[in-house]
Amino acid sequence: MPIADETAQFPPGSAVEPALVTPWSRALGLRVPVVNAPMGGVAGGRLAAAVTAAGGLGMIGMGSAATGDALRRELAHTEPVTGPFGIGLVDWVVARRPELLEIAIAARPALIAISFGEDLSWAARVREHGIRTATQVFTADHARRAADAGVEVLVARGLEGGGHGAIEMATVPLLDAVLAAVDIPVLAAGGIGSAASLAAVLAAGAGGAWIGTALAACAESSLSATGRQAMLAADGADTVVTTAVDVALGYPWPAHFPSRVLRNDFVTAWTGHEDALRADAGARDTLRAGIAADDPRVLPVDAGQGVGLVTAVEPVARVLDGWCRGAAELLAPRTPIGS
Ligand SMILES: Cc1cc2nc3c(=O)[nH]c(=O)nc-3n(C[C@H](O)[C@H](O)[C@H](O)COP(=O)(O)O)c2cc1C
Repeated sequence: MPIADETAQFPPGSAVEPALVTPWSRALGLRVPVVNAPMGGVAGGRLAAAVTAAGGLGMIGMGSAATGDALRRELAHTEPVTGPFGIGLVDWVVARRPELLEIAIAARPALIAISFGEDLSWAARVREHGIRTATQVFTADHARRAADAGVEVLVARGLEGGGHGAIEMATVPLLDAVLAAVDIPVLAAGGIGSAASLAAVLAAGAGGAWIGTALAACAESSLSATGRQAMLAADGADTVVTTAVDVALGYPWPAHFPSRVLRNDFVTAWTGHEDALRADAGARDTLRAGIAADDPRVLPVDAGQGVGLVTAVEPVARVLDGWCRGAAELLAPRTPIGS
């Protein structure tokens, strides 16, 4: 539960809503219990810096196309920011490019998250460097395994969420199950993007919210103009879960981690026909050309069912401020009837 603690150590001069302080956010010195999800190609250093400056935990996301140089470039944006930031990596990408983890550790972030892998031995290594560890989990069993491997913070990521993830459980039942299964901080992810949904997961016991889609269109994100436009136009029924994009791009994502993306012509044509897509070089070329041209009929845009909440391109600080004020009001003790 969120707790108020007058002795919490926050940056001097910063306003903290006591109703939003959780043991986890206090341990990290966050004014706001919000983490931006590490979103490859979207959550670069500018978004992370803006989230940290606004009192949350900014994360740089390195996705399927990550390189060491790209991570170094994005890290440069966080240099002027005082406050904690994190780095999120993808397991199979780190296996191909181990330098990503070396660069991440050398950057001394407050948190390193590696998701979508079975082997969690990286956690012990990262902890040796005094860096906190996190991973996304999709079932209570998975949560127990991650906790046993020494991961310190679990992200209970529901099937509503944008981007890759297991289609196992929705966010709130998953959060309940993971909280019951482990004794370490649990963040909630999937479909959170309003004061009400932030208040709901904090009231349900989350240490914070790990938010992707609802921050993806913020002014500081690296999302392309076409991707931003597609998010603004979409509602929650416009997403689809698919492996077609990964098959077409030749990314070795495990089949049990499909991605939730906005529906478009390419995704509609090929979802469920991935074997045919593997054999169709022309279709794969169409996807690559469409991405290069930023063609909205083809461009893959990762987004969760909360995408309907994205209605304007706003700076992170304004978005977080609105969520936090609203959530604090919702979580404030109610005056008993008759008093
Ligand atoms: C545009 C986008 C890109 C993403 N890229 C990554 C990624 O590179 N690594 C990762 O661990 N998760 C990634 N995710 C998934 C997020 O970590 C998180 O599970 C998800 O955003 C939570 O659901 P929400 O989008 O409804 O907030 C991505 C999500 C989105 C929307």
